[in-house]
Amino acid sequence: MAYQIPRGTQDILPGEVEKWQFIEKKARDICRTYQYKEIRTPIFEHTELFLRSVGESTDIVQKEMYTFEDRKGRSITLRPEGTASTVRSFVEKKMFAAPEQPTKLYYIGPMFRYERPQAGRYRQFVQFGIEAIGSNDPAIDAEVISLAMELYKSTGLKNLKLVINSLGDPESRKAHKEALVSHFEPRIGEFCADCQNRLKTNPLRILDCKKDRDHELMAAAPSILEYLNEESNSYFSKVKSYLTDLNIPFTVDKNLVRGLDYYNHTAFEIMSDAEGFGAITTLAGGGRYNGLVESMGGPALPGIGFALSIERFLAAIEAEGIELPIAEGINCFIVTMGDQAKDRSVSLLRDLRKAGLTAEKDYENKKMKGQFKSADRLKARFVAVIGDDELEKNACALKDMETGEQKDVSLNELADYLKEKV
Ligand code: HAM
Repeated sequence: MAYQIPRGTQDILPGEVEKWQFIEKKARDICRTYQYKEIRTPIFEHTELFLRSVGESTDIVQKEMYTFEDRKGRSITLRPEGTASTVRSFVEKKMFAAPEQPTKLYYIGPMFRYERPQAGRYRQFVQFGIEAIGSNDPAIDAEVISLAMELYKSTGLKNLKLVINSLGDPESRKAHKEALVSHFEPRIGEFCADCQNRLKTNPLRILDCKKDRDHELMAAAPSILEYLNEESNSYFSKVKSYLTDLNIPFTVDKNLVRGLDYYNHTAFEIMSDAEGFGAITTLAGGGRYNGLVESMGGPALPGIGFALSIERFLAAIEAEGIELPIAEGINCFIVTMGDQAKDRSVSLLRDLRKAGLTAEKDYENKKMKGQFKSADRLKARFVAVIGDDELEKNACALKDMETGEQKDVSLNELADYLKEKV
C-alpha cells in the first residue's frame, strides 16, 4: 500500500517552494529594517506552557493541541503558536537583562493545531511572527501593525483590511465581564454548549462564537469599548493616532476578541477582502499581552506581537492574481560529445558553480539532442558545447540562447566570461 500524507498537511514541492522562500526572505528583510532579531525555539514544549499562556478555556487548548506523553511520561505538546515559547525563552534566558529594550524578536516555523482542515486552514502551518517585549509605548503597537502591513504590501497585495480593538486593562475587563454575564445569563439556555461553558470561564469568548453569531443578544452585547477606564482609553486613542500618522487605514471592531487568553489593550487582525478569497479571510492576528511575562515567572513587563501564516499569505497573493518575481532558469548548461569531453565537464561544472553561477550537465548519458532538450527545459541562458575539436583547443562553443550568438571560449576563462555576461 502506498503511503499518504496526513490530513491537513502539505508537501511543498520545487516550483512552489520558491514562493515560500520569497515570502520568508521578505519577512527577514523587513525584520532587519525594523530591527527584530530571529529566535528559534523547539517545535515541542511542556504542555503546561500552553495551558498557562494560551489559556485553558480556549479552543486551541481544549480541542486543537497535539499532546502526547514522552517515554518518561511527561506531557509534551507540539507548539500551536509562537508567542508562548518566545516569552518562555525571554524569561528563561533573562533577555530582559540586556541593556537595550524592548527585546524585539521574530520567528518563522511550523505550528500545529488539530483543526478541521479547509482552504486556508491546516493542521501544520508555517507562522511568521514578531514579539516586542518590554515597552508600554503605544508607538510600538503601531510599529508592530505597520511591519505587518508593510510586509503584505511589499508583495503587491492591495485588498487588505486592518481591524483593531482594545480589550482594555484588567480593571476595564472585569467591569466588562460582569456586564457580559448579566447580558447573557438570563437567556444562556438559547446558546450552544460551548457558550454555556464560556459564560462561566470566559464570557468574552461568547462574542467569538461561530454557531451563535446571529443570535439577537450578540449585536446588542455590551462592548468593551464602553467599559474602558481612562488609562485604557487614552492608550487606545494614542495607538489610533499613530496609525493615522503612519497612513495606515483601520476600522474599529468592538467585537474583535481574538482566540487566545493572554491579550489585553490593543488587539488587531488583518483580513483580505479580495474577491474570490476563501471563507477564512483573516490573514494575521496579534495584540498586546501585558501580564504574560509575569505569569510565566518573569518580571512585570508588557509585550505585543502578531503572527501570520505563509499559507494564507500565498492564498491572498493568488486570489489577487499577483505573480511573484521568482527568477527562473540557469546560467549555463554544458553539452558534451564523447567520453573525454564528458570527463572534462565534471571539473568545468565545479569551476562554474564555484564562481557562483547556476550550472548543470547531463547525468543520463543523453545524446546531443537530448542534452539540448534538457538545457531548454532548464531555461539555460548559455549552452557550452564541448566536442573533440573543442577539447583539443581547451575551449567550448558557447551559445547565447537569448541572442543566438555563438563563439569559442577557452575553458579556463569560461567562468569569468559568463560572470560578466549574466
Ligand atoms: P492566531 O490568531 O491564533 O494568533 O494565529 C495567527 C495567524 O496564524 C492567523 O491569523 C492565521 O494567519 C494563522 N493560522 C492560525 N491557524 C492556522 C491554520 N490552522 N492554518 C493556517 N494558518 C493558520 C497567534 O497565533 C498569536 N500567537 C499571534 C500573536 C503573536 N499575538 C501576539 N504575538
